[in-house]
Amino acid sequence: MSSQIDHLLSESRRFPPSAAFAEQAVGGNALYERAAADREGFWAEQARELHWHTPFTQVLDWTNPPFAEWFADGELNVAYNCLDRHVEAGNGDRIALRWEGEPGDQRNVTYAELTDEVKRLANVLTDLGVERGDRVALYLPMIPEAITSMLAIARIGAVHSVVFGGFSADSLRSRIDDAGAKIVITADGGWRKGKVSPLKPAVDQALADRNGSGIQETVEHVIVVKRGENDVEWTDERDLWWHDVVPQASTEHEAQAFPAETPLFILYTSGTTGKPKGILHTSGGYLTQAAFTNRVVHDVHPETDVYWCTADIGWVTGHTYVTYGPLANGATQLLYEGTPDTPHPGRWWELIEKHGVTVFYTAPTAIRSFMKIGRDVPQGFDLSSLRLLGSVGEPINPEAWVWYREIIGGDETPIVDTWWQTETGAIMISALPGVTETKPGSAQVPIPGVSIAVVDDNGDPVGNGSGGLLVVTEPWPSMLRGIWGDPDRYRETYWEKFADKGYYFAGDGARLDEDGDVWLLGRVDDVMNVSGHRLSTAEIESALVGHEGVAEAAVVGASDETTGQAVVAFVIIKSRYLKQKPVDGLGDELRRWVGEQIGPIARPRDVYIVGELPKTRSGKIMRRLLRDVAEGREVGDTTTLADTAVMSVISAQVK
Ligand code: WTA
Repeated sequence: MSSQIDHLLSESRRFPPSAAFAEQAVGGNALYERAAADREGFWAEQARELHWHTPFTQVLDWTNPPFAEWFADGELNVAYNCLDRHVEAGNGDRIALRWEGEPGDQRNVTYAELTDEVKRLANVLTDLGVERGDRVALYLPMIPEAITSMLAIARIGAVHSVVFGGFSADSLRSRIDDAGAKIVITADGGWRKGKVSPLKPAVDQALADRNGSGIQETVEHVIVVKRGENDVEWTDERDLWWHDVVPQASTEHEAQAFPAETPLFILYTSGTTGKPKGILHTSGGYLTQAAFTNRVVHDVHPETDVYWCTADIGWVTGHTYVTYGPLANGATQLLYEGTPDTPHPGRWWELIEKHGVTVFYTAPTAIRSFMKIGRDVPQGFDLSSLRLLGSVGEPINPEAWVWYREIIGGDETPIVDTWWQTETGAIMISALPGVTETKPGSAQVPIPGVSIAVVDDNGDPVGNGSGGLLVVTEPWPSMLRGIWGDPDRYRETYWEKFADKGYYFAGDGARLDEDGDVWLLGRVDDVMNVSGHRLSTAEIESALVGHEGVAEAAVVGASDETTGQAVVAFVIIKSRYLKQKPVDGLGDELRRWVGEQIGPIARPRDVYIVGELPKTRSGKIMRRLLRDVAEGREVGDTTTLADTAVMSVISAQVK
């Protein structure tokens, strides 16, 4: 089967940055020129923006691929870079975190305060026997203590593994075991949808359940933040209240220098298929690219911006663009604990108005859910402080992109659609907001210093105007350094397909348009083959969402006697539209619509109107489950779904 992916949709709208925006932008055209002239020299310059206790002399060591080393003979302390150096530069009074809890409680934490708190916790962890290289698991809500914990662990050269608070005791346990965590930091619970949703009980269950499992317990202590008023069970020798140990600890703590390749964190990615992999990131290269991209892509001006990335710290976006990037840059950011719709559907817009948020970074799934509710909700708030919007996590379809710009961005703000992965550690493909003339739906170009290609199965470039497989052709500073405890799986998963060329294969399909700009087409595992044409999910979904009645869509290929595979669509209809029109006949109308927008080949064989789509907790659609339904099979493993009930509802609707 050919790896070429057919291209069907076209988009001609263009949005250059305003002259005013371009003039003040952090990143300019010179960055591309400098990086093209000397890629490694360019990254060395970016790395020197950080504080090195021992300056590096080596840049990249790629003598043992696919195991890269960056800046290996340099030494730094990641937490010092995110904290002390801002305080020492006289910015201790600047607010690092403007935190707001779901019930509306608020805390402003300055850089000086955050530094002290991190020093205290670093002392506590050291007293509990945590040493360089030890693993600490975090299972926390979005509260300042979550950021404090990540930085305190980094400060002492230990390794954090953040487990998303929505994951079950089982998932937590397998992640604790895989990493061999010595300490778990959690909370009694966190506010979600108007009540405190418990966390500590899952930790208790995870740690209690191993009688007879033959697995040696590695966890020695559990530190518990008190966030709600929930009663918690207590295991005396093991459990410690944060408030009993941290406030008392000393704020004297000198940050030690660690080699640049010191492991910083493990983050498990389950993705939409397969067993979770512990993606390993290290210190110097990761922090370099995290800080650089946050500066030039999010255009962060630390003195004036109020930046808000809505991701949970349980995802890589929360690691790179809540904790490490913005804090390394000394930015002020908003941190919000709760869900977007509590206590009312305009909560996020209210927060933007109240805190004067200037740079806003979120996911297409959130944008589409706001489109579904209707524009009058955001239009009830003053969003004029916003000057830049960003998107990450999935292809953003042109309709959602344009809605985002018009309704949230006042028809003025640039939008950066940023492509990257847990594995890449930081943004790889994106516009620079002061430079790029953006096209709705395109992630545009690799950032300066990153080198990508779109290739066929032999690794040969498909050329402009064609689709194929997205690869990264040169090592980059924030690349994963491996899969925790499984070097073979690392090599097989990412490097084997193009072993002779030494390309990293990302698993995504992409297309280059006539100008060479990149359009992401979704996971290649999801690509459909209809009568020998390889069709991407992203384009057909984008066409469906382009219909005035459709809020969200997912398409899959189901086996078909005549065409090999047939397109089967699952769509959610906008509530406002449903009130005005009957659903009868809508399926046929949508089939026709896709036929007109793209071509008869892409016309879905079946259109199912559903109430919800199956999504992972980070908002990605799990198409393999929809494929099971479309082919009339028993639905597969649903444990990583945000809402496991969704699939039974969809199956029933389809029947
Ligand atoms: C998808 C999230 C299109 C892609 C940072 C990738 C995107 C996977 C985009 C990684 C984008 C992320 N356009 N697709 N701007 N950003 N993706 O590891 O399929 O949670 O491989 O990292 O999300 O998801 P992950």
